[in-house]
Amino acid sequence: MAACAGVGAALLGCVLLYCSMLRPAGAQLYRNRYDGDQVLRITPRGHGEVQFLKELFQNMTVDFWQPSSASLICEDSSVDVHVGHRRTRTLKTQLQQAFIHYEVLISNLQKEMEKQTHSWSSRKRRSELQYNYEVYHPLGEIQRWMFEMNRTYPHLVDLFSIGRSYEGRPLYVLQLGNRSRHYRKAMWMDCGVHAREWISPAFCQWFVREALGSYQHDSTMRRLMNHLRIFVMPVFNVDGYHYSWKTDRFWRKTRSKNAKYHCRGVDANRNWKVKWCDEGASRHPCDDTYCGPFPESEPEVRAAARFLRKNRKRLQAYISIHAYAQMLLYPYSYKYATIPNFNCVETAAQNAVTALYSAHGVRYRYGPASTTLYVSSGSSIDWAYRHGVPYAFAFELRDTGHYGFLLPEALITPTCTETMRAVRSIALGLLRKCTS
Ligand SMILES: *[C@@H]1O[C@H](CO)[C@@H](O)[C@H](O)[C@H]1NC(C)=O
Ligand SMILES: *[C@@H]1O[C@H](CO)[C@@H](O)[C@H](O)[C@H]1NC(C)=O
Ligand SMILES: *[C@@H]1O[C@H](CO)[C@@H](O)[C@H](O)[C@H]1NC(C)=O
Ligand SMILES: [Zn+2]
Repeated sequence: MAACAGVGAALLGCVLLYCSMLRPAGAQLYRNRYDGDQVLRITPRGHGEVQFLKELFQNMTVDFWQPSSASLICEDSSVDVHVGHRRTRTLKTQLQQAFIHYEVLISNLQKEMEKQTHSWSSRKRRSELQYNYEVYHPLGEIQRWMFEMNRTYPHLVDLFSIGRSYEGRPLYVLQLGNRSRHYRKAMWMDCGVHAREWISPAFCQWFVREALGSYQHDSTMRRLMNHLRIFVMPVFNVDGYHYSWKTDRFWRKTRSKNAKYHCRGVDANRNWKVKWCDEGASRHPCDDTYCGPFPESEPEVRAAARFLRKNRKRLQAYISIHAYAQMLLYPYSYKYATIPNFNCVETAAQNAVTALYSAHGVRYRYGPASTTLYVSSGSSIDWAYRHGVPYAFAFELRDTGHYGFLLPEALITPTCTETMRAVRSIALGLLRKCTS
């Protein structure tokens, strides 16, 4: 099927069925909701097994981690699914009977989460004088941090809101760059489009810290800040992110209500007005890849699109940070065709991935989203590219499924350090002219 991304489309996904309360420190995490839940990696061989799995997941609801829906299951590509504790045995039995290969990636999701958050109570997040970039922060802390950055670096930062979320939260963007200089080129980076990808907002914060902190002594960063305006949106899907802390750790979509169904939310990376709701997107409001009732139906997408349209003349790069898969993707997502400025973009991607590798030897695959990951329509990179942004990238950060969305806080530093090198490389490239 066309939705299958040729060779290595392995590694991605999600589905979501549960809810609970997070009480930081002490009390039961998410009301013990994920006790006994497992994450399985299933690898179908051949067309028959693919069909079997697609049918099986019509009968049995699971939370797709990678790829993000059953329709994207392909031959010889693995599928990571989060299975509720009541269904693990049934699912395994059915796979065994069909001789389909699987392995258990996480044997008890609740325990894994508790292991990781064991130290939360002793961490004293709020009393720390220095903001801790090596832990995940809830929305309120991130917003306070943005105000703090705005207050501390008035000559390099401007914080403003581009609109409001479905639930009425401000959509903050930090503008970085020497404010006393004119700029002709700008770059946009958003994080936290998908709520459960917590490493993503962590990276946006890391990026801002590095950009501001190294401005004085790092001549490269100074060049970037003097010649570029960098717009950073640390949490795009604010409602969903808040919900992933408070209620459901594995929530992906926005939180908008649907007129006909009780299921909430739209996939904010399927809601853009570019080949909207075609292949790789779902029309069903309960699906994790739901495209929404119409393009830009989500206030978060509408606000970002309006801002990007307004600044399109200067925007040279659009970067969206996701997880997980370890990939650097560029247009097109919705079709297999090659983009007109392929050579420039491919070179930029190759340089970025090489820079990333130089930090810790972590390998990223890179290429057009459609052939490297899977086909998806209504994505933000395709939209940005169509609106004239020559360099549009989506990162899928660590890992490749060992922890999936539960990437431990101990891996924030290496992940952000290496990603910083890649983003820096892309930004620096904008100051040169590509003529190929
Ligand atoms: C799905 O359910 C239908 C109807 O109950 C059944 O006929 C079919 O065999 C099931 N398929 C799988 C793969 O479990
Ligand atoms: C950020 O700081 C500037 C002054 O440098 C101020 O005008 C602006 O209102 C601040 N942003 C927010 C959201 O408070
Ligand atoms: C910003 O640019 C101006 C003009 O080039 C320069 O004088 C100033 O020092 C720069 N600001 C900072 C914080 O470096
Ligand atoms: Zn994502």
